[in-house]
Amino acid sequence: MLERSAPGKVILCGEHSVVYGRPAIAVPVAGLRARAQIEPVHGDLRIVAADLGEEFWLRNAPVKQPLAAIARLTLARLDAAEPDARLTVRSELPIAAGLGSGAAVSVAVARALAAFLGHKLDAEAASALAYEVEKIHHGTPSGIDNTVIAWEQPVYFIKGAAPEIFTIGAPFWLLIANSGIPSSTRAAVQRVRQRRAAERACYTAYFARMGQLADKARRVISAGDITVLGPLLDKNHTLLRQLGVSLPALDRLVASARAAGALGAKLTGGGMGGNVIALVRVEQKAAVAEALRQAGAVQVWETLVKNENGTQMNADGR
Ligand code: MEV
Repeated sequence: MLERSAPGKVILCGEHSVVYGRPAIAVPVAGLRARAQIEPVHGDLRIVAADLGEEFWLRNAPVKQPLAAIARLTLARLDAAEPDARLTVRSELPIAAGLGSGAAVSVAVARALAAFLGHKLDAEAASALAYEVEKIHHGTPSGIDNTVIAWEQPVYFIKGAAPEIFTIGAPFWLLIANSGIPSSTRAAVQRVRQRRAAERACYTAYFARMGQLADKARRVISAGDITVLGPLLDKNHTLLRQLGVSLPALDRLVASARAAGALGAKLTGGGMGGNVIALVRVEQKAAVAEALRQAGAVQVWETLVKNENGTQMNADGR
């Protein structure tokens, strides 16, 4: 049995504006992972989506089935025939929650299948394959999710440009709180597109401000100045509200985190549900996690953001 895995991700600054060519920054969440296991069996490629209780033969799967799509793309890239194998996929990442579950599954599958066939996919190759599947999931993705997940490093990302891995000057803690409200990135991106069409000048200005925040956030993170990062996250949340992708439930989580002592908080990913992140000092973690639960979070995780893989567990240490 061979296994490959890939992390989830959170966007620190610049979701949505990144679709319109502005910079954004994102970090991997090393402790929340998608895993693909592959073992030899007779009779072509059998794919098992263990969390969904589904399994099927690759040859029978529709073109847009995401697991089948990444398997076919990987085989085509390697110019390889379908192996006799069972590929089992599991994920610790909540689906439709802005944490990159789709891209993490794609990267894990591509790497497991390639390894089974005796190849290694570097970050650029894995990211490019996953991007093709992101288009099935999201329509017009910027590419930030597949990039940060395949590189598994903090990235400064501009659509269409090579990603820049940036330095974390001083590791910092984030809490990630799940609202439990499913969030469709495709629908959120569509909503922003429609609103932008009606108020173009206004949205162009919002996106420009978000891009400036991402630039500034990168500088302060590299300088290790996290007290300055907090207000930048807060400002990014205000702009995301103005874009129309927050919800009262997300605003409540953000406000509760700040009231309990977080340095800053915002929704992360497409919004209209999904997760919020809160920047916390280590001594505030427990109180802020409890405040987030009291305000309705169905799950709270913590992650230490640093250049190597961070550690992660439930915020109460479980
Ligand atoms: C998705 O994680 C972030 C969005 O900016 C969409 C994208 O970048 O493709 C909302």
